[in-house]
Amino acid sequence: MSRDNMWMFDTKVIHASQTPEEWQSGSLPPIYQTASHKFDTAQELSEVFAGKEAGYIYLRLRNPTNDVLERKIAALEGGVGAVATSSGMAAVTDTVMAIAGAGDEIVSGNSLFMSTYLLFANVLPRFGLTAKLVETVELAQYEQAITEKTKLIFVETIGNPKMDVPDIAELARIAHLHSIPLVVDNTLASPYLFRPIEHGADIVVHSLTKFFNGHGSAVGGVIIDSGNFPWPLEKYPDFKLSAEKRPDAPFLDKVWREIHINFGTTLAPFHSFLTIIGLDTLALRMARHMSNTQKLAEYLASHKKVRWVNFPGLPASPSHEIAQRQFVGKGYGALLTFGLADQEACFKFIDSVKLAYHLANLGDSKTLVIHPYSSQYVSFTDEKREELSIPAEMIRVSVGIEHPDDIIADFEQALEAT
Ligand SMILES: Cc1ncc(COP(=O)(O)O)c(C=O)c1O
Repeated sequence: MSRDNMWMFDTKVIHASQTPEEWQSGSLPPIYQTASHKFDTAQELSEVFAGKEAGYIYLRLRNPTNDVLERKIAALEGGVGAVATSSGMAAVTDTVMAIAGAGDEIVSGNSLFMSTYLLFANVLPRFGLTAKLVETVELAQYEQAITEKTKLIFVETIGNPKMDVPDIAELARIAHLHSIPLVVDNTLASPYLFRPIEHGADIVVHSLTKFFNGHGSAVGGVIIDSGNFPWPLEKYPDFKLSAEKRPDAPFLDKVWREIHINFGTTLAPFHSFLTIIGLDTLALRMARHMSNTQKLAEYLASHKKVRWVNFPGLPASPSHEIAQRQFVGKGYGALLTFGLADQEACFKFIDSVKLAYHLANLGDSKTLVIHPYSSQYVSFTDEKREELSIPAEMIRVSVGIEHPDDIIADFEQALEAT
């Protein structure tokens, strides 16, 4: 057993895949800011290209700084390997493209981050790929939607921004019954709160831009392969080559060699470096993010101007019970939504906060507020916004790691102004 596997999670985030002996004894990896690497002989380059020798050729293929990040995150999620990508959306797109193609179907929970929703609902169909969207927590609907053509199931651990929590172990069971993999976007939970592979998921994707980075200083994504899915060739005939090249992780080989390299979804090494620094404090930050969110949710739920609060940590949430079981009381994430009287009240609230930042991101150390109806979803029709549970009276909060009393005091004065 490697040392990485013996440590507790809080130690792993700091020490997993540290190799200072390769970094001039530095405690952080260098930023290999180079597009390509020089070779002494033609024979050497040929062997690395052929995969007979390990080595770095060109940034779009592989980069030493990105490799460190990939190894660290694979260790944290309990996968056999990872591919870092230019953004969370690149991780989602690469994963789907590696598994499904024209004429295939995917089944996904309908509670999705906006761009994932648009990718599935509007973009994939242009390439002959159908995404069937089902009610995220209704397991029977996944069963009903699966056909011979279905190539994967996709869900978010905690839906953004609907905040619903599907039963991952049950979904993995359903997927495997039909010989298809379960792909989980674990961005909102982070592996500190939940590790989908331990519950049967086959592939995990993340936006690194959020909690991994933690400081809003870089954009990135990552795909982690559990190495557990058998990729039966009757159903996945084009996995043949990858199964030969990388029998322990055919998906990782396929997504990297066929999609990541050719689509060019490359992560900048500097962004990798910033994310590696962020990783050191992931456990500490998540604990504080989540205790702050619980306190803020309880405060908002008791405020006379707040019509409703949607957060899986509140007993009133329809997802409370499953979240409690699945996240074993560790927390319920750091995102919540709440309702005011109307859009005007929301705008007044947002214009009145002094500590919280009004911007389109989440998972930052600063508390962030946004009015999704008039921002990310501004070009959606009213029917679509209703279908996706984006009402005009809703504010989304990504709760930061400031002192909870200061966050509550800021919300108090902003609510007073509405
Ligand atoms: C759950 C989830 N998945 C994926 C993404 C996309 O990540 P990125 O902005 O890094 O492409 C986001 C962004 O907010 C997200 O919330």
